[in-house]
Amino acid sequence: MGKDRKKIGIIGVGKMGGALIEGILRAKVANSREIIAADIDQKCLEDVKTRFGCETTPKNRRAGEAETVIIAVKPQVIGEVIDDLAETVKPTTLVISIAAGITTGAIEKRLGKEARIIRAMPNTPAMIGEGVTALAPGRKITEADLIKAKNIFEAVGKTVVVKEELMDVVTGLSGSGPAYVFTFIEALSDGGVLMGLDRDTARLLAAQTVLGAAKLLLEKNAHPAELRDMVTSPGGTTIAGLKALEEGKLRATLISAVEQATRRAQLLGRG
Ligand SMILES: NC(=O)c1ccc[n+]([C@@H]2O[C@H](COP(=O)([O-])OP(=O)(O)OC[C@H]3O[C@@H](n4cnc5c(N)ncnc54)[C@H](OP(=O)(O)O)[C@@H]3O)[C@@H](O)[C@H]2O)c1
Repeated sequence: MGKDRKKIGIIGVGKMGGALIEGILRAKVANSREIIAADIDQKCLEDVKTRFGCETTPKNRRAGEAETVIIAVKPQVIGEVIDDLAETVKPTTLVISIAAGITTGAIEKRLGKEARIIRAMPNTPAMIGEGVTALAPGRKITEADLIKAKNIFEAVGKTVVVKEELMDVVTGLSGSGPAYVFTFIEALSDGGVLMGLDRDTARLLAAQTVLGAAKLLLEKNAHPAELRDMVTSPGGTTIAGLKALEEGKLRATLISAVEQATRRAQLLGRG
């Protein structure tokens, strides 16, 4: 191995694995010669080779020889992938798992207790570079490891670092969150259609409003209530709309959505 050791190995190049390679290359975290991708699906590998020009292999253990190994397979198969890695992963290897619900403790158990593991929870907007990923460091993780992981996931959006016991909450908020927002956008467009707009116009108005409002909030670093008050004039249209949202308990419903999804993640995590 020695100097031929790849910088990043990615095991499982489906939706998330593919999005990560794309982001890593775009942000120049690594170049295509420094990446190796493994998958059991030959078609996936051919696709990755054509799109990104990086080395591919059907052998997970080959990708496991890299300095940083990202495991991006479904939680149901992560056990066999870790077994493939047991011999190739060194004490210096940084292992990052994005498998939902699988703890760093469970991975350590199969990989050895000296293993350096970070658990990551990205979300689907990572596919267009606008994701948000929570990172939870395992017991052996150093500051340098965490910086490496941040660099990788900042290539597909923003990152936060949380204690591992909060990963289920992250799953219930930003992991499931895109589905809540799609529902919100769909309903908002339906309102437009009900009042006479055509479907495409209504959907564009709704989606761009959500995008713009989110960007405004992040860029101004403001409290949502402050920005809401800016557009809520006395006796005006917005306060009339807001009253309907309060009557429909939109806020309580969203709070419950995060609560229920978190509980579900906790339950699934207990297996
Ligand atoms: N999508 C999300 O929003 C999201 C968000 C956060 C976390 N995650 C996590 O990310 C992980 C991947 O999700 P995804 O949506 O990217 O899944 P995906 O599109 O199904 O990709 C997984 C890839 O891994 C391959 N694979 C299966 N078993 C393998 C094995 N033993 N060795 C090597 N490769 C194997 C699959 O091949 P086959 O198709 O042939 O099985 C597939 O190409 C999951 O653990 C999920 O919990 C996803």
